[in-house]
Amino acid sequence: MCGIVAYIGPKQAYPILIKGLQRLEYRGYDSAGVALLNDELRLFKTKGKVSKLKEFLNGQHLPGTIGIAHTRWATHGEPNQINAHPHFSQSKSLAIIHNGIIENYALIKEELIKRGYKFESDTDTEVLVNLIEDIRNNEGVLLDEAVRLALNQVVGAYAIVVLSKDHPNTLIAARKGSPLVIGIGKDDYHVASDATPIIEYTKDVVYLEDEEVAIITRNQELKIKSIKNKDKTPYIQQLEWNLAELEKGGYEHFMLKEINEQARSIRDSMRGRLKAREGIVALGGVKEYEQKILKANRIIIVACGTSWHAGLVGEYLFEDLARIPVEVEYASEFRYRNPIINENDVIIAISQSGETADTLAAIELAKKKGATILGICNVVGSSIPRATHAGSYTHAGPEIGVASTKAFTAQVTILTLMALRMAQMKGTIPRTRFMHLLHSLDILPDKVEEMLEDDSVVRLIAEEFKDAGNFLYLGRGYNFPVALEGALKLKEISYIHAEGYPAAEMKHGPIALIDENMPVVVISPYVGIYDKVVSNIREVKARNGKVIAIVTKGDTTVKDIADYVIEIPKTEEILVPILATIPLQKLAYYIAILRGCNVDQPRNLAKSVTVE
Ligand code: F6R
Repeated sequence: MCGIVAYIGPKQAYPILIKGLQRLEYRGYDSAGVALLNDELRLFKTKGKVSKLKEFLNGQHLPGTIGIAHTRWATHGEPNQINAHPHFSQSKSLAIIHNGIIENYALIKEELIKRGYKFESDTDTEVLVNLIEDIRNNEGVLLDEAVRLALNQVVGAYAIVVLSKDHPNTLIAARKGSPLVIGIGKDDYHVASDATPIIEYTKDVVYLEDEEVAIITRNQELKIKSIKNKDKTPYIQQLEWNLAELEKGGYEHFMLKEINEQARSIRDSMRGRLKAREGIVALGGVKEYEQKILKANRIIIVACGTSWHAGLVGEYLFEDLARIPVEVEYASEFRYRNPIINENDVIIAISQSGETADTLAAIELAKKKGATILGICNVVGSSIPRATHAGSYTHAGPEIGVASTKAFTAQVTILTLMALRMAQMKGTIPRTRFMHLLHSLDILPDKVEEMLEDDSVVRLIAEEFKDAGNFLYLGRGYNFPVALEGALKLKEISYIHAEGYPAAEMKHGPIALIDENMPVVVISPYVGIYDKVVSNIREVKARNGKVIAIVTKGDTTVKDIADYVIEIPKTEEILVPILATIPLQKLAYYIAILRGCNVDQPRNLAKSVTVE
């Protein structure tokens, strides 16, 4: 969603800000803007892409060593130039960029209107900047104090950076519920909504905590205080990602790069955690909580979207291997349905970005009720890992394509490790099977690699079905979540309507849709209740549906019935979701490309959904 970039230092700010906005494009947005302070405070914004803003400013002299910039994903007011950020205060002496939503903005706006303020935009952000200006003028306080006092009046979520014409050497930044990172360079500071625009300049960063205000002054140490006016000591951390991971590395799209990276990302997610020969599974991050998980009444997995699908695979894994009851909840539903939770429950929150607002809210709710909260996240230092009691990072590396791919397989990898560890501790599976599963998991990245080498069949199928209006995805058991994930990938990036269903459930409704125009993707590896899935395929074929089947290499039964087959290497049933998802990611990718869609930034979608 919205992206923030700000700079203060000896260099010219504009090129740094524009590059930073480009790095944040993956988050999803619909307008962009920049404010620069030299002798005057100047503001430029456009509807549409950052390239449009760049084009608009091309050839202009844009001096200034301090500035702020923003990509906006519309919440209050339509995506147009007026509503784009930055926003000026009424006197045009302050400019602000803001991510999040000020929930009580209407009340504050009413008060400000009574006091003579006029508003140009429909945004809550313009209300906030005028509130800061009003406090500064009426209370005669310094800028940071005016920001702090204003933030005490607002209800909602924010990450903001304020630039003042009267303070050419200072930026004020603050956060609550929306992330903000401050990069500390040798003689400069970078601020951004995530670390991607900062990595190329410095690895030293401070993640602001909720309700903290940072006073960032040229050539001075960073100062942080709480909105309750308590001084805080900045905690400097090192970024682990590197610049190469943020580039396309020769690929046309981030999504394809990330799909093709999965042998590496799965290996990295297991590195140091799996010693197959010794029979060791060790997740250091959750070690202290192992007994708690073992004794838990149940595990509740909360997540959204693709991460929720990973959670569903987790449910099969924990119940099957470790015999621990699991519920999987959409975080957005969980948070509002007054769930029954207590101190004997363990919550596992799964999130690639670590910033998903609904997942964060679900965590806070469960925490208040005394549950133990564990996290499985990809972005180090993001809000969810900081809100949980403990957790494991996925180590998939930065995921820039909006459609989640390598994060999913890394999440399932971590869940597999967790479930195996629990099974080992509880003794719920025989030692020989346990050792065999560890070995199969250990060699899984090699199988992923083998599978990624040749995608000619997937391309052919994509060509054949690129004009379809609908798709149905079917799977059973461990592969039911795979069907959901395959359908989600396709609809997100190709805009073809697709539904995922448990294969047997088809005859209770969706079967009515099947005719010769309906492509049906069936995940039918030679594991589990294979025969039942074969029967489901026959049901589709009997109605002239077109079957695209994901089968185990060497399968002949399904090959004889299906119209197309995509082979995956043979593996254990519990590991099939990781392998079977990958060709479905590729199928969605190639169909979207053939339809001319923007796969890395599909319409209306945001990479990290920081508002509810
Ligand atoms: C799908 C996708 C989304 C995310 C969802 C949760 O490709 O990317 O459905 O999975 O918004 O995001 P995280 O995992 O960041 O919490």
